[in-house]
Amino acid sequence: MGKTVVLISSKGGSGKSTVAVGLATAFSLEGKSVLLIDADEGARCLDSMLSVDSETVFDISDVMSGNADIENAALKVPGLNGVSVVPSPHSTDALDLGELGRLAEKWRTRFDYVIIDTKGQLPVERLSVLPKTADFISVVTTDRIAVRNTGLLCTKLSAFGIRPRLIINRFKPKMQDGSFVNIDGIIDAASAQLLGVVPEDKNISALQGPILIGTAAAAVFRIAARIDGKNIPLPDIKKIL
Ligand SMILES: Nc1ncnc2c1ncn2[C@@H]1O[C@H](COP(=O)(O)OP(=O)(O)O)[C@@H](O)[C@H]1O
Ligand SMILES: [Mg+2]
Repeated sequence: MGKTVVLISSKGGSGKSTVAVGLATAFSLEGKSVLLIDADEGARCLDSMLSVDSETVFDISDVMSGNADIENAALKVPGLNGVSVVPSPHSTDALDLGELGRLAEKWRTRFDYVIIDTKGQLPVERLSVLPKTADFISVVTTDRIAVRNTGLLCTKLSAFGIRPRLIINRFKPKMQDGSFVNIDGIIDAASAQLLGVVPEDKNISALQGPILIGTAAAAVFRIAARIDGKNIPLPDIKKIL
């Protein structure tokens, strides 16, 4: 039985889709099968990030409404063995995440990983209907507002028995104003377990296709191994600072 991973954030642009592609890359290199679901309705991106946008016929709403089978909607990603991606709808109608979660429960019998890349800033009521068996991961950047709102999101989700783990993304030890980011403070504010810290990496911004090289890729690979249950020590926070 595979695992469902749900990427969430209190804000758009935190790096969920980038992390989704990075995790899919890492799992593929480990010989695992991955179904990547772009659940950001109205803001399709994973198909383009993985260079399959010209092949898109169906999207996840077609599968949910019974218009298409998952086999027809999921596009095989070139260069990433065992990885398929289902695009999000162009329509901005809210996807029923409860229904998507029920389908993911079925798909994880056939894939090692089902990764659901959600829209940022979703209200907790929409996220809380996803299966409790999923591995929820909140991706947060180091800015104050994002950190505070991630704390609120994690606290609200815990009332539903969901305790997301945390990825701190776009980490720069020294901020533009010369101050330092306090990772301990971010973890405390989010009151979530740290899964990893992904540095700001210029390899990412120009990226199309699998995430293979650079410091961010290396960090996401370690995170993938932790999700997979391997004992990879976390970075020494004092050394990062
Ligand atoms: N670690 C990183 N280093 C540099 N740029 C990044 C990093 N992570 C994400 N980005 C950039 O940030 C922007 C938003 O990332 P994206 O994954 O689309 O966020 P989200 O899916 O949460 O909206 C993109 O331009 C992406 O290339
Ligand atoms: Mg995204």
